[in-house]
Amino acid sequence: MGVVRQLRQVDADAQGVDMAFRADVHAGLGQAQKAIPARWFYDATGSALFEDITALPEYYPTRSETDLLTRHAAAIAAAIGPGRAVVELGSGSAAKTPLLLGAIAPAAYVPVDISGAFLRDSAAALSARFPGLPVYPVEADFTQRVALPREIGPLAKLGFFPGSTIGNMVARSAIDLLRNWRTALGDGALMLIGIDRIKDIATLIAAYADPAGVTAAFNLNLLERINRELGGTIPVENFVHRALWNDVHARIEMHLVAACDIEFAVDGRRYRMAKGETIHSENSHKYGPRDANLLLRAGGWTPVATWDDANPGFALILAEAAAFRSAP
Ligand code: AVI
Repeated sequence: MGVVRQLRQVDADAQGVDMAFRADVHAGLGQAQKAIPARWFYDATGSALFEDITALPEYYPTRSETDLLTRHAAAIAAAIGPGRAVVELGSGSAAKTPLLLGAIAPAAYVPVDISGAFLRDSAAALSARFPGLPVYPVEADFTQRVALPREIGPLAKLGFFPGSTIGNMVARSAIDLLRNWRTALGDGALMLIGIDRIKDIATLIAAYADPAGVTAAFNLNLLERINRELGGTIPVENFVHRALWNDVHARIEMHLVAACDIEFAVDGRRYRMAKGETIHSENSHKYGPRDANLLLRAGGWTPVATWDDANPGFALILAEAAAFRSAP
């Protein structure tokens, strides 16, 4: 069947720059605590660097989740059943997807990703691996409302949201996303979601501040992307990567720290940072079992099965679309 066609749902300006990127950068640099949403890491360079991160010995989530999908393939397949359209949120390289698709006999696959070039390659690779499976790639930001290909309309859906990407959202945005996808995937849908557990701080910090400096390069690429796409003059060499554990919010935070007083322009607009000031570039929330279940329920999904990797602590949760019910 192959790759059917790639749908594009991104608002780009005349230079091909995503308008939401421009708006988020200026809004974020204008705040007292400068902050840029983590989804802008993923241009072609950032997506490739993230793939390198997933292979690092310190970055356990990818290995843990791959291991869970492999060890529990039969139980996961029995819980999901055949014939569903699998809609993957933030598919990236879709490295883990064959484990799921090979186990559950799906009727269609819809990878949704903001990085168009990356999406094209991974959709083609998946289609070659599963020649009978219709693949409908959608280039879109999965945190916004996404129109699904009409061809999968009649099929029961499985949302696949691996990698603990939900952790990159604050609770309110995570719940909005889960609710939007509850509506988009419809009654009878299931969601298989990867959740990173709270664990000892040393393990967490090592995963986000690797000695090889790959995560640092990933973080700094955000500044390079601003320079490339928005005509920025940011002196990237004057910034350093920092990862810290915020215990109140149960999250790893990544920051870009100004190593000296800095002035730069983006789109001709001037910004200034004092030495030690930071741009907050990512949150990666970690969840205990009860927190994770509460988050899913608040988003309109009822957990029905959990596969846990106790060491170092990662979970795959299968949840079903809940009927709306506000009373006890
Ligand atoms: C994509 N996301 C789940 C990764 C994470 O672990 O929060 C992104 C990442 N940031 C630094 N390393 C990996």
